[in-house]
Amino acid sequence: MAASLVGRKLLSVEDLDPDQTREVLDLAHEYHMKFVVPQLTRPRRLDILTGLDMIGLFYEPSSRTALSFRRAAMNLGMDAAIVFEAAEQTSKAKGESDADTGRIVSPYTDFLVVRSPVVEAVREIALASNIPFVNAGNGDDEHPTQGWLDQLTLERELKTRDFNGLKIAFLGDPRFARSIHSLAKLLALHYEGVEMTFVAPEKLWPQEELCQWLSTRCRFKGCVADLKAGLEGVDVAYITRIQAERFRDSQPDLFEQLQAERPKFRVNNTLIEQVNPDVLLMHPLPRVDELDPDVDTRKKAAYFRQAANGVPLRMALIHRLLQDD
Ligand code: CP
Repeated sequence: MAASLVGRKLLSVEDLDPDQTREVLDLAHEYHMKFVVPQLTRPRRLDILTGLDMIGLFYEPSSRTALSFRRAAMNLGMDAAIVFEAAEQTSKAKGESDADTGRIVSPYTDFLVVRSPVVEAVREIALASNIPFVNAGNGDDEHPTQGWLDQLTLERELKTRDFNGLKIAFLGDPRFARSIHSLAKLLALHYEGVEMTFVAPEKLWPQEELCQWLSTRCRFKGCVADLKAGLEGVDVAYITRIQAERFRDSQPDLFEQLQAERPKFRVNNTLIEQVNPDVLLMHPLPRVDELDPDVDTRKKAAYFRQAANGVPLRMALIHRLLQDD
């Protein structure tokens, strides 16, 4: 039996050990069968965490993460409030520190979720709070619930729970895409036989530190700047948009250079048919122009199912962080 998660603060996929990860994913599969499969006849609410509530502070835009956390909490019987544009809509705008925010919000809610463009801000709020906490995306670092819902998606789509031998290519922006960082770490932590490659313009290859870390834990095949070569022979293509908001203002030259390279890294139906028709296509979304909508009707285009999996995964996580049984 896995150690209890009640009361924990989760900032990274590394914060759950393999047993805890398995327990959350197993519960997420159960919630998937109850809430996602029977779309029209799903229960309105379970009475599991009635009387408790969740607050989400979003200092960065979000559709999937914020709204699926809200839905997940409500499915469990909780109340949920999301503060969007939190930098303007909370007392942060008057100069309140992140640590004070963590202290102040704790007595007002039972469960706190925070997203920020500043890597350390999420950690500071978490450290100062004294309630269960989940990082909903901190800058270019991590997006752990995206990683876990991506693992749930891989398990459902590939009908296996053992990813040793799986070949996965991460496309788009492995330097700045926190969803890539979380899934790559998660797979490498639990499956030393997983094979992974990063496919992107050289300026968007991940930091050497992450590559070194992956090399010691799985079959890390390195980085390539050729989309066709990167797609060939892989089981899964995990596509991301270029995260322009991370560097557009600080590195305008890089932004311009990458604009010119965008067409070379666009995935469309013709390319998939030519190079790898059986590949499973995932994307954390939102997409911009790196993934052509002409791919959407392919059976193995899993990204909308992947987004829907955010609800059962977050239900399982909230449940385990607030209650053992
Ligand atoms: N995948 C994801 O994090 O989407 P949002 O930015 O819309 O939450």
